[in-house]
Amino acid sequence: MTRLVVANWKMNPQTLEEARALASQIESGLLTMSQSLVETVICPPFVFLPPLRIVVHSGFLGSQNLAAQAAGPFTGEISARQLQEFGVRYVIIGHSERRALGETDELISQKLGLALKHRFEPILCVGYGAKRSFSSSAIKRLVKSQVQKAVKGLSVSRGAPLAIAYEPVWAISQGLGTGQAVKPSHASEIIKFIKTQAPSARVIYGGSLDSKNAASFAAQKVIEGGLVGGASLNAEEFLGIIRAFSI
Ligand code: PGA
Repeated sequence: MTRLVVANWKMNPQTLEEARALASQIESGLLTMSQSLVETVICPPFVFLPPLRIVVHSGFLGSQNLAAQAAGPFTGEISARQLQEFGVRYVIIGHSERRALGETDELISQKLGLALKHRFEPILCVGYGAKRSFSSSAIKRLVKSQVQKAVKGLSVSRGAPLAIAYEPVWAISQGLGTGQAVKPSHASEIIKFIKTQAPSARVIYGGSLDSKNAASFAAQKVIEGGLVGGASLNAEEFLGIIRAFSI
């Protein structure tokens, strides 16, 4: 399977000028690389999606979220149909920072259903609630329940595009995390397990990936890419991660 490397810019950068400059630097770097081995996705804040559409050609645009409803009186939400207007192909669903704001497994499942219906490739994040002190078996139980609840009642056919990001919350570089990536062997063990739950999904790792540690994750073939927050705000760092996964 082609590997997938996703930039999650979160609520950054602060100006359109910076967003354009960052996307252009990433685009220039991608142009110099062989594109066939890695799919690159940039998930900027919603307001930057339209202007970045004309900058990003070698990669794809993704959204950091979508509403659980199709349309209507939902102040501050953005619909799947609206995202389609701007060439969005991927949607991050159930990120730990959204779960911390109150998103439940039920809501996440509704979002996943809408994303699949609109033919986006959802990037379902699991690992929220896990603690560094948890045993592997406790983490497996948790991610199994998160995956099962997300796909419950949905017909995720074998061919439907689906990515799952194992992103243990403590490993995230800012906010709720400690800034310490997990050991690649741990990521690989949990990802192998997730693949037994969702055999047709691409399963990627997220949490403090950077251009220095990416190669050790990429060396584990079962890890099919990365979800990158902080390091995706620096074009050289992000391109370094893409290079590491292009093997
Ligand atoms: P990080 O964030 O790479 O900054 O740890 C990853 C994420 O939260 O998606």
